[in-house]
Amino acid sequence: MKRIEVVQRIIDRKKARRYLEIGVANGTNFFRIKARRKTAVDPYFKFSAKRKVEWVLKNPWNLFARYCECPSDDFFASAGPADLYDVVFVDGLHTYGQSLRDVLNSLAHLAQGGVIVMHDCNPQSEAAAHPAESFAQAAALNLPEWEGGWSGDVWKTICYLRSQRKDLRVFVLDADGGLGIVTRGEADNSLKLTDEALHRMTYQDLAKERKGLLNLKDESYLFEFLKTI
Ligand SMILES: C[S@@+](CC[C@H](N)C(=O)[O-])C[C@H]1O[C@@H](n2cnc3c(N)ncnc32)[C@H](O)[C@@H]1O
Repeated sequence: MKRIEVVQRIIDRKKARRYLEIGVANGTNFFRIKARRKTAVDPYFKFSAKRKVEWVLKNPWNLFARYCECPSDDFFASAGPADLYDVVFVDGLHTYGQSLRDVLNSLAHLAQGGVIVMHDCNPQSEAAAHPAESFAQAAALNLPEWEGGWSGDVWKTICYLRSQRKDLRVFVLDADGGLGIVTRGEADNSLKLTDEALHRMTYQDLAKERKGLLNLKDESYLFEFLKTI
C-alpha cells in the first residue's frame, strides 16, 4: 500500500478538512490528496506554476491549496495557536533531529483527534539509513548498497516517541518505506531508551530488532486502526 492511499484513507475516515504536508518535493503525493484545506511546506518546491495549474484541473481540491516555500521550522515558528491540522504528513528532511522537531511541532498544531503520518520509518539497508545531513550528502558518499533512496535515521524518532511519550500511540505500518502513525492516546506498549542511547544506536541495532523497536505492523492493521479514529 502506498503512502497516498494510507493518508487518503485516514482523511476520508475522519472527514478531515485540514491537511498539512511537510516536505512536498514535486508534489507526487500532495497534488493527489483530496481535502478541503491543503497546505504544502518545502524550502524548494520542485514543480512549475504550470504543473500547479494542471493539477487544479486534475484534482480541483488543489484550487485552494496554500504553498509555503520555507523550511518547516520557519513555517511552525510563524504559525498561530489557532492554526490547526487534522492530518499531517511528515516527509521533510530525513534526519532524527529534524523529523523529531517536525513531529513535535505538528503535535502542537494537531487538532483534537488528529493523526500524524511519517514517511520512511523502516529503512531496508544501511545505505538508505545512513545518518547524513541531507539527501545530497548521502548520495555523494557512494555508499555500498546505495539504490537512490534515503530514509536517514527518521526511525529513531519513532523509538524516541515510544520511549519518552506515554501520551502517544505510535506504530509503523510495514508499507511504502515504513509509515509511522502517531496519535494522542495512551501508548499500548513502549520502549525504555534514553535520548543518549538512541543517538548511539546504529542501523545494525534496528535490523536486529526491527519489529520491537518500531512497533511494526502488517499493512492490513491500517483497517483496524481506522476503526479507532
Ligand atoms: C522525500 S521528499 C518529499 C516527497 C513527498 N512528500 C512525496 O511523498 O511525494 C523530501 C522533501 O523534503 C524537503 N525538505 C528538506 N528539508 C526540509 C525542511 N527543513 N522543511 C521542509 N521540507 C524540507 C526537500 O526539499 C524535499 O523536497
